[in-house]
Amino acid sequence: MITKESPIAVFDSGMGGVSVLRQLYKLMPNENYFYFGDSKNAPYGEKTTEEIKALTIENVKYLVSKNAKAVVIACNTATAAAAKELREIYKDISIIGLEPALKPAALSKEHPTIVVLATELTLREQKYEILHDRFKETANVIKLPAPELVRLVEEDKVDTEEMDAYLKRLFSGLEKEKIDCVVLGCTHFPFAKRKISQFLGSHVQVFNGAEGAARQTRRLLEAKNLLNENGEGKIIFENSDETKIPLSKTLFYRK
Ligand code: DGL
Repeated sequence: MITKESPIAVFDSGMGGVSVLRQLYKLMPNENYFYFGDSKNAPYGEKTTEEIKALTIENVKYLVSKNAKAVVIACNTATAAAAKELREIYKDISIIGLEPALKPAALSKEHPTIVVLATELTLREQKYEILHDRFKETANVIKLPAPELVRLVEEDKVDTEEMDAYLKRLFSGLEKEKIDCVVLGCTHFPFAKRKISQFLGSHVQVFNGAEGAARQTRRLLEAKNLLNENGEGKIIFENSDETKIPLSKTLFYRK
């Protein structure tokens, strides 16, 4: 039976969802969490939509078996591929997805130039296309797939020369001075935020959908009277590649 003590499940292809877990925990420190990363199958972003859908459905089934009261698909890629179907399968469980925070970026100033960093899959799916079309008149929106950034975070290589070289390559076709905003459209990327900001310069505003997803989770639980406001806030970390569990914990607690 689902109760207030039931965990909020958080799912990602690997480490990325930890950036969302951090926001959830900040907003709701008394909740119990069950984090599952599928690092064995990461990266998801370069797989076909069908492959990601199958993996996500399988993993969410596992999380539901843990008696989750809500499932946060803390992965833009898995959300784009499978959220709609999951909401049809699990009508009684709140399913929260992640999507690139293009709206607040587009509204941040008069006709800004926005770079949306995400996986190949997120940027080619219809879900993103609809979002993109909504803001293409109000902003100059540039899609920039950054698959290598997923690997660098997954291997804890953000503070390396390899990362510096990659950022240089990634943005080589763009004029840094003309960029107003960057949208971190993949949950792995907030772990590289400092590096990205340093590289692009302080004039660039960085947007991330995690906070909005955390607020949405709280709203949905509140509406069902399932908020746990007096619990001890226990977090369980699991991963399909067990050797990755220590890194999830490190990233969660890293300042
Ligand atoms: N963290 C995922 C996202 O938000 C994708 C990473 C991957 O390619 O596995 O899109």
